[in-house]
Amino acid sequence: MKMFDRFWFCLCLWHLVGVFGDEMKFVKLGDSVTLNSGLTELMDNDQIQWRFWIGNTSIAEINVTADSMTVYDDVLDGRFRDRLKLDKQTGSLTITNITTEHNGVYLGVVINRTSIPFFLAVYDEISVKKGDSVTINSGLTEIMDNEEIQWAYMKENALITVINKQADSMTVFDDVLDGRFRDRLKLNNQTGSLTITNITPEHTGRYVLLILGPKESLKAFSVSVYSEIICFILHIFLIYY
Ligand SMILES: *[C@@H]1O[C@H](CO)[C@@H](O)[C@H](O)[C@H]1NC(C)=O
Ligand SMILES: *[C@@H]1O[C@H](CO)[C@@H](O)[C@H](O)[C@H]1NC(C)=O
Ligand SMILES: *[C@@H]1O[C@H](CO)[C@@H](O)[C@H](O)[C@H]1NC(C)=O
Ligand SMILES: *[C@@H]1O[C@H](CO)[C@@H](O)[C@H](O)[C@H]1NC(C)=O
Ligand SMILES: *[C@@H]1O[C@H](CO)[C@@H](O)[C@H](O)[C@H]1NC(C)=O
Repeated sequence: MKMFDRFWFCLCLWHLVGVFGDEMKFVKLGDSVTLNSGLTELMDNDQIQWRFWIGNTSIAEINVTADSMTVYDDVLDGRFRDRLKLDKQTGSLTITNITTEHNGVYLGVVINRTSIPFFLAVYDEISVKKGDSVTINSGLTEIMDNEEIQWAYMKENALITVINKQADSMTVFDDVLDGRFRDRLKLNNQTGSLTITNITPEHTGRYVLLILGPKESLKAFSVSVYSEIICFILHIFLIYY
């Protein structure tokens, strides 16, 4: 069961991420986001389910035949409590006051009609000077024995590292993307934090950390690399004005 969820999620995130297109939602802490069902109107016997990746959990359902509309906002420790709004007309789902606990993949299923995946995340913004090293903090003090963590670079959907504590393995795929990460990645085997050394603008982009295990979560980071020259111009600008 667990494996199945994980499979579904990984498949969505790492391999089908291209299909998200407009369905990638970059949100700020506290924002609201509407996941669009793609329908303008529900039909007589439509049934809609909204599911969240952790445990393949149903968070909202509409059954037009039964004229019922339900949000399951007590699931997953109440992280969705008072945050879900369903549109009766279209079946779209609005999530309000978003936090990092809401990061991940959502699936909107209109039974017998469509199924739309969404990727939603709150990004931590990290700005780093060209040539410097940056450590992207996993936020973990220790990786548990039954956990696996994966780092991915979202720009071109490349999986860059995997630590599997149970299998006692740590893999760095630094040959991906024409070797742009070659010899630049360091993974802390205790915390799972990722260090990119001698960073260049080629490493700008979104990085996602997936923690799999009994307590699954996803963290997202937006890394931008600036060069000295821009810094210099900004400096002059600030002095001048
Ligand atoms: C998720 O749950 C739905 C509804 O119970 C089920 O139809 C679907 O097969 C499940 N998907 C996975 C990957 O377990
Ligand atoms: C929707 O409502 C109809 C009529 O009450 C019922 O037969 C059907 O099982 C319901 N579907 C789901 C998924 O609960
Ligand atoms: C938003 O969520 C945070 C964290 O759960 C909570 O402390 C805050 O009161 C919420 N804000 C609103 C406007 O609901
Ligand atoms: C979905 O299609 C199946 C097979 O055609 C049918 O038995 C089922 O009633 C349909 N469900 C809904 C909600 O339309
Ligand atoms: C973890 O890293 C430390 C320091 O680099 C090293 O001494 C240790 O052998 C590593 N442990 C494992 C299990 O790889």
